[in-house]
Amino acid sequence: MNEVAQVEEFEARIRQGEKIEPKDWMPERYRKQLVRMMSQHAHSEVVGMLPEGNWITRAPSLRRKMALLAKVQDEAGHGLYIYSATETLGVDRDDLVQALLEGKAKYSSIFNYPTLTWADIGVIGWFVDGAAIVNQTMLAKASYGPYARAMIRICKEENFHKKQGYEICVTMARGTPEQREMLQDAINRWWWPTLMMFGPPDKDSTNSAELLRWKVKQKSNDELRRHFVNITVPQVQALGMTLPDPDLKYDEEAGAWRFGAIDWDEFWRVVRGRGPCNRERLRARRAAHEAGAWVRAAAEAYAAKQRAKQETNGVRAA
Ligand code: 3HC
Repeated sequence: MNEVAQVEEFEARIRQGEKIEPKDWMPERYRKQLVRMMSQHAHSEVVGMLPEGNWITRAPSLRRKMALLAKVQDEAGHGLYIYSATETLGVDRDDLVQALLEGKAKYSSIFNYPTLTWADIGVIGWFVDGAAIVNQTMLAKASYGPYARAMIRICKEENFHKKQGYEICVTMARGTPEQREMLQDAINRWWWPTLMMFGPPDKDSTNSAELLRWKVKQKSNDELRRHFVNITVPQVQALGMTLPDPDLKYDEEAGAWRFGAIDWDEFWRVVRGRGPCNRERLRARRAAHEAGAWVRAAAEAYAAKQRAKQETNGVRAA
């Protein structure tokens, strides 16, 4: 079948809501888009461990420490899960990780901001994982089977992440004036970077048209961003906190919250490597990769030994 007919058949499958599996024919462009998006997602999960990991040794109680440890561990697992899903597209995980370490691969802008107080840990769980749930619930319906299935498991764990974060915020909102002030400060610092997580405005989204046509994305960046604002503003109000947006206003007719202009210059500055913590995050990832070299060598040596044993047994049996 020529390529035109193959693309038509592929797009008909997508329109019918079929899942595309690794062994199915797919346009090279579809594969490339998935490798780009999924590898950046995996990088984000792994780099995302750093801002919160910074507070594991300083958690205010054993209970908080255990919950944060579990969350950070989950993020590592999400990264490995999504790298595995990306490898079904014929790419090598080592190449993907190398691109990250060399600063050639993107990861989510949100992880380039510092975690200055314990309240940041609560607000990250509430805002950042809350935004991830909005985005990943959509991706759980993606046309590429391995990605969609990875999202189903990850979303379950993200719900725990959001709950533990919001519980930290509720505790602080009911706490001393200093704790309330600390919480309000964290909300003020994380609100706008969280809205930026959903990507540039639709008019500047270079990938959305293809991703929407091929049902990798089901909703646009702006649609998801608006949905996140609509569900989060009432939660902020329930805590008696405010948002750093003087233009935030409820539109009765539309039944939605209208919000102010996002600083897209800041967004692109952070995406292009000039955010508050970009250098620190990459330095930490490179150091961790270096320090883990012996673990990878030991695992490869063990795997080689197992393969040799199987071959010997195979020869003996034959
Ligand atoms: N940070 C860094 N780069 C971003 C970005 C962000 N928040 N948003 C967009 N970009 C980049 C895109 O990668 C693209 O650059 P590229 O073409 O060189 O890759 C460019 O800006 C234009 O953006 P587009 O809207 O065209 O890009 P997409 O259509 O890919 O949409 C996205 C961006 C919404 C992030 C989409 O890629 C996506 O949904 N990715 C999967 C989910 C994901 O990666 N989430 C990151 C957070 S992970 C997380 O939250 C973990 C949780 O446990 C906390």
